[in-house]
Amino acid sequence: MSHKLLKGKKGIIFGALDSKSIAWKVAEEAVANGAKIILTNAPIALRMGSINELATKCNSKVIAADATSVSDLENLFLTAMQDFDGKIDFVLHSIGMSVNVRKKRDYTNLNYDFLIKGLDVSAISFHKMLQVAFQLDAINDFGSVLALTYIAAQRTFPDYNDMAENKSYLESIARSFGYHYGKHNHVRINTISQSPTMTTAGSGVAGFDGFFEYADKISPLGNASAEDCAKYCITLFSDYTKLVTMQNLFHDGGFSNTGVSKELIDILGKKK
Ligand SMILES: NC(=O)c1ccc[n+]([C@@H]2O[C@H](COP(=O)([O-])OP(=O)(O)OC[C@H]3O[C@@H](n4cnc5c(N)ncnc54)[C@H](O)[C@@H]3O)[C@@H](O)[C@H]2O)c1
Repeated sequence: MSHKLLKGKKGIIFGALDSKSIAWKVAEEAVANGAKIILTNAPIALRMGSINELATKCNSKVIAADATSVSDLENLFLTAMQDFDGKIDFVLHSIGMSVNVRKKRDYTNLNYDFLIKGLDVSAISFHKMLQVAFQLDAINDFGSVLALTYIAAQRTFPDYNDMAENKSYLESIARSFGYHYGKHNHVRINTISQSPTMTTAGSGVAGFDGFFEYADKISPLGNASAEDCAKYCITLFSDYTKLVTMQNLFHDGGFSNTGVSKELIDILGKKK
């Protein structure tokens, strides 16, 4: 199902680690829709993941960049503009990591060095890439920048731990930078709040299988898959959504507006 919505557009995609990654699906969908892309990830992820397979498939270059390093980001945007022979039309930030989650630290026993590292990787990196792009004037008028987030920014999901604060910060950057970038260059900035998805980052959260199932049973349309998320991203990169900016957009099969489902009540009721 390709409508060539991104014909002639050029983009940078952060965060494809392996074929389960949401960014991997976005890359495939963007190219199927006529875009040219550059893939990027942290140097260690380039060594450990399978991004080169994706690069071959998408006929795209891979540029290493630690998203917390301003000099790496400057090199990335400058090289991309050179390679594309012009400015960029869309950027995907699909990056998340909490050291406290990885080390299984409870929320009431956080290590603050770990917290700062996770905040830098998961949220401040978004500001860094926007600031670098802004200062280099790297994005075309009505270009579109997206970051992926999770509803734990608004509601408590205990095992999501300090990633909840990271996502709140990320969503706030989309609003604040969205104002400034909108005023200056008509660049739009949004976050997509995605359903739980079986990926490396997703399944790193304790009890992930449980809340994947829970969300699936609550959501009238069921959990949104990574493939569906990719399709939604394409619409937001396209010219059909030119005036959408500074929004946190739920892509979750209706989860965010549902209190409880009959299916779940039936399951819990039977336990009595
Ligand atoms: N999987 C889910 O359930 C889910 C739900 C909602 C939102 N999200 C968000 O989607 C995004 C993508 O995650 P995913 O589920 O595809 O998992 P993933 O593990 O495939 O992707 C996470 C990516 O972040 C990259 N990364 C980590 N540190 C980095 C750094 N310093 N510099 C550059 N890149 C770095 C990793 O290499 C990896 O490619 C994340 O923001 C995640 O929080 C995921």
